[in-house]
Amino acid sequence: MAGHPSNSVAQRSVDPASLTRLLPAEELLGAAVLIERLGLWKRASGTAERPRVMLNMLSTLDGRATIAGRSGPISNRADRELFHALRASVDGVLVGAGTVRTERYGRIIPNPLARELRLTRGLSEEPLACIVSGRLALGEDIPLLAEPQARVVMLTSSEASLPAARAQIDYIRSVLEGRLDLGGGLRELRERFAVQSLLCEGGPHLCRQLLAEGLADELFLSLAPKLAGGEPSSGEALRILAGAELDPPVGLELMSVLESESALFLRYGISAPERVSRETTASSSLAR
Ligand SMILES: NC(=O)c1ccc[n+]([C@@H]2O[C@H](COP(=O)([O-])OP(=O)(O)OC[C@H]3O[C@@H](n4cnc5c(N)ncnc54)[C@H](OP(=O)(O)O)[C@@H]3O)[C@@H](O)[C@H]2O)c1
Repeated sequence: MAGHPSNSVAQRSVDPASLTRLLPAEELLGAAVLIERLGLWKRASGTAERPRVMLNMLSTLDGRATIAGRSGPISNRADRELFHALRASVDGVLVGAGTVRTERYGRIIPNPLARELRLTRGLSEEPLACIVSGRLALGEDIPLLAEPQARVVMLTSSEASLPAARAQIDYIRSVLEGRLDLGGGLRELRERFAVQSLLCEGGPHLCRQLLAEGLADELFLSLAPKLAGGEPSSGEALRILAGAELDPPVGLELMSVLESESALFLRYGISAPERVSRETTASSSLAR
């Protein structure tokens, strides 16, 4: 297709799931082509200090982010294809150590076709795997760290290092008042590692912090057609954000809606935190 020279590689996936674009309305398309059209890998012309940060999360309709401790049981084919298509579009993938441990992260781009596609986009074969951890409690039993091709950056407040691993591991030790400075860490990712686009795959604790600190620009949210119940206060019924309440709540602007097999795929822009906090609205005559 004119204007999309790498489409032939993007379309080579055998029998892709079909997605209907509901908003704005369009024809049936595969995940790879839809993500291709977003052109996320194209270089930003601005001089932003930190990478553009996109959250990619998955939830049941009643808000569960995991079933039996994992996100896999909530996912479907289109969700998995979008997940991998997004990975094929960015400079870096950001993830909390909790998710790396639970989901047993492996090579970020296992499919050689997707690595080839990245090269046609002017990206490196694999995105930088950026892991946020305080304790650095990650061993070589994590498949990603045992992967010689993997390039990993640990964002940590610790002075320690991981045990020797086959992956190439660098460190960003960005600390403010004894705690990890996520904003400083993202700026260093941009300056030292040329990361301009960063896909955050969770988990809920990391996503909440990015939102609280105004460090997230977009949310890709897959809504699975499932109801799972569970007690919200229990660790088992994790939602897509965990930790203290966001006050004021973060506002979102709907950018697109896709549907496949009754699952919805929502893309939101994330606005700056609302100026009026809940405390202020509670005393307002407009409060519902
Ligand atoms: N539904 C979805 O879309 C989705 C997506 C991702 C994950 N999940 C699920 O979420 C669960 C894990 O979630 P989670 O929220 O516990 O894990 P998480 O956010 O991935 O990781 C939390 C860990 O990240 C590190 N960390 C985060 N913020 C830090 C900071 N400011 N300073 C230093 N370290 C920091 C700490 O690592 P250390 O402990 O190493 O210090 C912390 O224990 C798993 O069950 C996973 O399956 C669901």
